[in-house]
Amino acid sequence: MMKLFSPITMGKLELNNRIAMAPMTRARVNNPFDAADDDTATYFAQRASAGLLITEGSQISKQGQGFLFIPGIYSEEQVQGWQKTTQAVHAKGGKIFIQIWHVGRMSHTSLQPNNQAPVSSVAVKAKGTCFAYDEQDNPGKVDVSEPTALTPEGIEAIKQDYVNAAKNAIRAGFDGVEIHGANGYLLEQFINAGLNTRDDQYGGQTIENRLRLTLEVVDDIAAAIGSDKTAIRIAPFGRFSDMPAFEGEEETWLALGDELNKRNLAYVHLSEQGTIGDAFTIPKGFTTKFRQHYKGIIMIAGGFTKETAEEYIQSGDVDMVAFGRPYIGNPDLVERMQNNWPLVEADRAIFYGGDSHGYIDFPAYQVESA
Ligand SMILES: Cc1cc2nc3c(=O)[nH]c(=O)nc-3n(C[C@H](O)[C@H](O)[C@H](O)COP(=O)(O)O)c2cc1C
Repeated sequence: MMKLFSPITMGKLELNNRIAMAPMTRARVNNPFDAADDDTATYFAQRASAGLLITEGSQISKQGQGFLFIPGIYSEEQVQGWQKTTQAVHAKGGKIFIQIWHVGRMSHTSLQPNNQAPVSSVAVKAKGTCFAYDEQDNPGKVDVSEPTALTPEGIEAIKQDYVNAAKNAIRAGFDGVEIHGANGYLLEQFINAGLNTRDDQYGGQTIENRLRLTLEVVDDIAAAIGSDKTAIRIAPFGRFSDMPAFEGEEETWLALGDELNKRNLAYVHLSEQGTIGDAFTIPKGFTTKFRQHYKGIIMIAGGFTKETAEEYIQSGDVDMVAFGRPYIGNPDLVERMQNNWPLVEADRAIFYGGDSHGYIDFPAYQVESA
């Protein structure tokens, strides 16, 4: 049997295989509470044969939101909404983590409480867009707004929001949380030395200062819900959301690996961005180096096939592989890969937004009877 299909123990969880469904924003939730709904539950339950499901990024607060029609995890209605999903997944024997998200500067005043500016490590506007309300108050792509630099009190409040979100996630029945530390959002806006020029303990040129917020968030969440239920996604060398290259980049990510290694987490998830439109990608050999620093479960995502996933797992650099786009059109991806059944390639037009079409209407593979 391929190792990809073999079980793996993660904390107290026994996962049926080493395939994860990568976090994917689908922007399908349209209710006044920004709460996950019946379609969300159906969508994840259809995909429950994955060893581990990871939800889309779910905002930890209104301030953390950078995209319309996303289910959050900060209010009571949202906890109740997600309960339907976790119950439906567990009923089918699946396991599910929620990705918890603060976008930092990748937001727009129309999404923020009282139309305030979004927040970041520094008051530097990103080149980039988000999905918010345009000048005519219609949902659409707009340039992100200029952020304000967080005060020490603002940082404390966000740490509290992360902890509340993690506790809510457990109340909603999730098996754990994946902290979104990737793709140029808030935590990376602190990690990146090319952006973060703060002169307090959360910034400047020391790696320790730039990693501080991420590690405090990890520690606070682990203390609240257990380290075995806490995971993090990072994007070493990532360039999404206008993240610049900086000196000492490899050193920074390996130092983060060392620190995370002390914390007995559920897993660390490496996001490889080269496949989703960004020219830059994790340099060759980096995953082997990272493995020397981080000994727990490593998951990787980004352009994998069954064959390359198996190769990576066999190499020992990673333990699990997450698939994103293949999961959109193939709810039974595990069975299709196991049986060498053909894969459906979903049209990009149905990735984000809209109704249940392109969301919950991809069927499992039908074996023709002879
Ligand atoms: C429609 C779509 C939405 C995504 N949303 C998220 C997200 O909410 N959080 C995240 O960390 N990555 C997100 N990603 C990135 C995926 O998790 C994954 O890393 C990427 O698609 C590469 O894997 P793949 O080649 O298997 O699709 C998204 C990707 C797609 C295609």
